[in-house]
Amino acid sequence: DTPVISINPAHRVAKINDNVYGGFAEHMGRCIYGGIYDPGNPLSDENGFRKDVIEAFKELNCPVVRYPGGNFVATYHWLDGVGPKDQRPPRPELAWIGVESNEFGTDEFLKWCEVVGTEPYFALNFGTGTLDEALAWVEYCNSSKNTYYANLRRKNGREEPYNVKYWALGNEMWGPWQVGQMTKEDYAKKAYQWAKALKLLDPSIQLILCGQDGTSSWDAYVLKECVKWDVHGLGGSTTASLIAMHSIHIYTASAAHLANATAPRSAERAIEVTAALIDLARIENNVPPSVPAPSICFDEWNVWDPVRAPGEAGAEEKYTLSDALAVAAWLNVFVRQARRVGMANVAQSVNVISPLMTTKTGLVKQTTWWPLLLFSRFMRGHTVAAHVACGEYEGETAPRWMRGTVATPWLDVSAAVGEDGWVTLAVVNVHAERAFETDVQGVKEGVVKVYTVEGPGVDAVNVEGKEEVGVRESEWDGRGKFTFPKASVTLLRWKA
Ligand code: AHR
Repeated sequence: DTPVISINPAHRVAKINDNVYGGFAEHMGRCIYGGIYDPGNPLSDENGFRKDVIEAFKELNCPVVRYPGGNFVATYHWLDGVGPKDQRPPRPELAWIGVESNEFGTDEFLKWCEVVGTEPYFALNFGTGTLDEALAWVEYCNSSKNTYYANLRRKNGREEPYNVKYWALGNEMWGPWQVGQMTKEDYAKKAYQWAKALKLLDPSIQLILCGQDGTSSWDAYVLKECVKWDVHGLGGSTTASLIAMHSIHIYTASAAHLANATAPRSAERAIEVTAALIDLARIENNVPPSVPAPSICFDEWNVWDPVRAPGEAGAEEKYTLSDALAVAAWLNVFVRQARRVGMANVAQSVNVISPLMTTKTGLVKQTTWWPLLLFSRFMRGHTVAAHVACGEYEGETAPRWMRGTVATPWLDVSAAVGEDGWVTLAVVNVHAERAFETDVQGVKEGVVKVYTVEGPGVDAVNVEGKEEVGVRESEWDGRGKFTFPKASVTLLRWKA
């Protein structure tokens, strides 16, 4: 049977938040040291920032970058990383078992964000950190008053506040690997009290609650306890909420190609479940409709097998074309679920489980770089109605619970219309051997620009000196059927 994709660009479903194309830079492996920051390398600028990495972030138009962890943040004291570099203390690092020199810290990261033109998103230390320390960090970054930490920032050379908007209330605090792991009851109580204090200090910040994978009892409980309309001390506002977003993390991976490329569909189910839990918390807590619902912050997502690429060894995954298809499927999920997703951060952005790999002499763009680039460039604006009717993959999926709860068609589809009136249809053909001649209903006849990510086979990789996967550009007249090549990501673009 001929597959049919139907798209109606006039049917706008939701605004796609630009922040779904966010990144993540953790003090882990070679992400910061040797990645973003590489002083002494001829490829670096006067700040020690790698210029080729900066250019890649600009090319991606990456809107927001999460920092400094991840698990790293659970023992991180931000004060160690500010002031004169020769006085900064090296410390044992307990997440990835190393030594943190503190050579790169708050001011360096915020300066790097300004050079790149991206917004910072900080995670607070909920492990060994105190509320006083968290308040001091917000004051250091954001206050324009004549107070101690704002003055410390001035003394360190920065007069104007940085106005860091996004702050996470810890990271994966449910995890047994976490320094300071908590019960959901302990976390919810602490998160709510910290949130209150932080918003009193700076009401303009947006706080992100620490969830799990969006489907757990941890998620249900912390949402119920923290998504409340309890504004004591906050001016009795009916339009503001303490919690702006609820964070969830999922990594997918499977050795078998089809299970690998279809696994990101589980994230779609997780988003739907999380959205329902948010709604339920608001209903149970009688939150007035004037208070906006927290959105979902998918602040760690990617293809990662921690056995194949262990965190302690720097998690340097070598991505295949199969992984690039999975990344495109992940991005299709964010576009389709735009109504509830406020931010998403690929984990991570440089060297560690990343589409970008630095060497001492240059930059390698892994297979997964290409779908990320195409989506960030073209899949902005509004998500629009798109439907696919085609055969389905019926074998093993990862995770196992997905079978029966999520459809896995051979063609995975999303669509967007930009502010400029250009419509983009993104299609991932996960089939390793079969091209699909497809009836694309709703495409406009004329000039359709075609961008295809493909390679010699699903195991193809991009490593130094061998780039097997890239983007092929072509055109189609929009007439008749379009054939989506086997194992490919295709973006079709036309002016509405
Ligand atoms: O991104 C790598 C690690 O994965 C992060 O530090 C942690 O939050 C997650 O477990």
